[in-house]
Amino acid sequence: MTFLTTTSTPLFLAQGSILRVLDPNSPNARSIFDLGIISTIILGVIFVIVASLIVYSLMRFRWREGEADPKQVAGNTKVEIIWTAIPCLIVVALFALTARTMSLSDPPPAPEPDLIVTGHRWWWEASYPKSGVTVANEFHIPAGKAFSLRLESSDVLHEFWVPELARKITAVPGHPNSIWLEADKPGTYLGICSEFCGTQHAWMHFQIVVDSPADFAAWEKAQQKTAATPVTPLAIHGLALFRDKTCVSCHAVDGIGTATEGPNLTHFASRQQLGAGVVDNTAENISRWLADPQSIKPGCLMPDFHLGDHDVSALTAYLETLR
Ligand code: CUA
Repeated sequence: MTFLTTTSTPLFLAQGSILRVLDPNSPNARSIFDLGIISTIILGVIFVIVASLIVYSLMRFRWREGEADPKQVAGNTKVEIIWTAIPCLIVVALFALTARTMSLSDPPPAPEPDLIVTGHRWWWEASYPKSGVTVANEFHIPAGKAFSLRLESSDVLHEFWVPELARKITAVPGHPNSIWLEADKPGTYLGICSEFCGTQHAWMHFQIVVDSPADFAAWEKAQQKTAATPVTPLAIHGLALFRDKTCVSCHAVDGIGTATEGPNLTHFASRQQLGAGVVDNTAENISRWLADPQSIKPGCLMPDFHLGDHDVSALTAYLETLR
């Protein structure tokens, strides 16, 4: 567990914030990993041969006291052809291997995407056009099925990178890019934004939750439901505050509002993390976030509403109902 010291109390960072770049878990990522290994071996062999020849020459042909200059040689066609041809062949081989990996790791996109991901400062929105589900920062895909993903950006350049599953791809405003997302087995895979995009670039994490096909279908069905209606007086008060305190002008909750400035909160409580990976999604952290978002994620676009303790408790109770 890692510590992050902020202006207020120290925070425990969210669990699972380790990026595994050498642990491919999809055919696409494996092809990239394999290319890395093969290239490293080829370049390693070249390094050993060249370094050994240099060391050998230094020792064997070292000038000694009283020795005359060696015979001077200018031009040798045979040697020149050899030392031009060998590097050319190496470059051609590396090019061929790279071209093969490019076609394996990045096939042409499907005509219609299964998932549209949009980069925002500093969080990710994901919508499933076929089921109409919209989520933020934590998205599910079924294991063993290639998902066609279209990547967009609402503001600046971001970069979508989940090294265990796919190549990096840049989110460009006004210019959608596509990749395939696939995973061999269920699990949770960490992704990050890997292109500097402002203050909270480093806290623009996301999680790909890979489910079995049955679990994925159940998850998608649960996400299609409209938001839960609060029943406790505190949570009912929280919903009223959600409307009055203008939360609803930025955050969509199905049946309450449709704004897209901030993350869609319809099933907020079903997510594991808060603030695009900054902290775990617990009641304590929600309260801390509501009391002063800037202390948890300095520079984030959610202002500090200077809510009193009672309002914070009511909003927390309401958000916790959004399973
Ligand atoms: Cu978004 Cu860096």
